[in-house]
Amino acid sequence: MNAYPNYHVPRIAGQNYDYLVNALTEYKKGERNHPTMRAQGESLSDQDIRNIATYLSSISK
Ligand code: HEM
Repeated sequence: MNAYPNYHVPRIAGQNYDYLVNALTEYKKGERNHPTMRAQGESLSDQDIRNIATYLSSISK
């Protein structure tokens, strides 16, 4: 279970689907270097990423 941290993290609810798929795929491939998010991305399959992006882009900001 992830806890919401008390430092700055991006708002991702309601973001564009393609934007979210790209961001998570870049963390997964190591093309973005943020360590916490790389750990998240590495644990996800491409299908997981599409499912998460579908959900996040469907909820309001
Ligand atoms: C299901 C779990 C998670 C998902 C789906 C997720 C999703 C995302 C996405 C899509 C971005 C890119 C946002 C953007 O570029 O506008 C992002 C960035 C970020 N996330 Fe997460 N995240 C998750 C868990 C976490 C956790 C557990 C933390 C910290 C405790 C975290 C901290 C951050 C930070 C600090 C960034 C900015 C990194 C950077 O500058 O590259 N995330 N996250």
